[in-house]
Amino acid sequence: MTARRPLIAGNWKMHKTCTEAEDTARELIEKVSDVSDVDIMIAPPATALAPVFRIIRDTPVELGGQNLFWEKQGAYTGEVSGPMLVSAGCRYVIIGHSERRQYFGETDENVNKKIKAAKDAGLIPVICVGESESERDAENTFSVLDKQMENGLKDLSADLFDGSVIAYEPVWAIGTGRTATPQQAQEVHSWLRNFLKKRFGQSSADRTRIVYGGSVKPENISELMALGDIDGALVGGASLKPDTFGNIIKYKR
Ligand code: PGA
Repeated sequence: MTARRPLIAGNWKMHKTCTEAEDTARELIEKVSDVSDVDIMIAPPATALAPVFRIIRDTPVELGGQNLFWEKQGAYTGEVSGPMLVSAGCRYVIIGHSERRQYFGETDENVNKKIKAAKDAGLIPVICVGESESERDAENTFSVLDKQMENGLKDLSADLFDGSVIAYEPVWAIGTGRTATPQQAQEVHSWLRNFLKKRFGQSSADRTRIVYGGSVKPENISELMALGDIDGALVGGASLKPDTFGNIIKYKR
């Protein structure tokens, strides 16, 4: 099995002005300056990307967008393209977050176009999937994930998919303080890896990082990271404070 380098990513959502984002980034790079065995990404709001990049460039902390539009440019008021994210310093982009699906009507078909646009721009997509509470209660978790993965990854060759990150984020665990139990998370992560194996082959599945998101905090990161198929975390609320996020990045190995 290939060793996968963990990714700990912070999704700041619609938080922080430019100045606040710069201050947070400054404190974070200080806090994690001695970490070299995980990849670290922060995704500030679009307005703060370029200012934050000026602070984190040449440090181990990398930048991610929270969303992108699939066209490169044009009359699409309010949208940001892949090349624009790259020009602001981004290496990653989060795609299909449940909040985008829930509040902005994003579909699996949109996600599919966004993944292709991200790869075309040279960005690493962090592709979010996850079931809602009622879907889990109705025991539909795997059929929901199957549809999200099948349609989200439609027509993607193994070569094009290569390097992408999958984020399993059960909707019921996001911002609720309710983390999936390690067993629940591992069960889904191993299912996702098996999906990737069937879709793209063993070596691609072995290489792909599958990160967990949903109420990750310093208190639960170590037990999640100890599981065989969990290769990192996508952290919301707990990534807003550099001290707390730093403690997550420095989880007990
Ligand atoms: P949370 O959010 O850590 O605040 O639960 C996770 C996410 O939405 O990525």
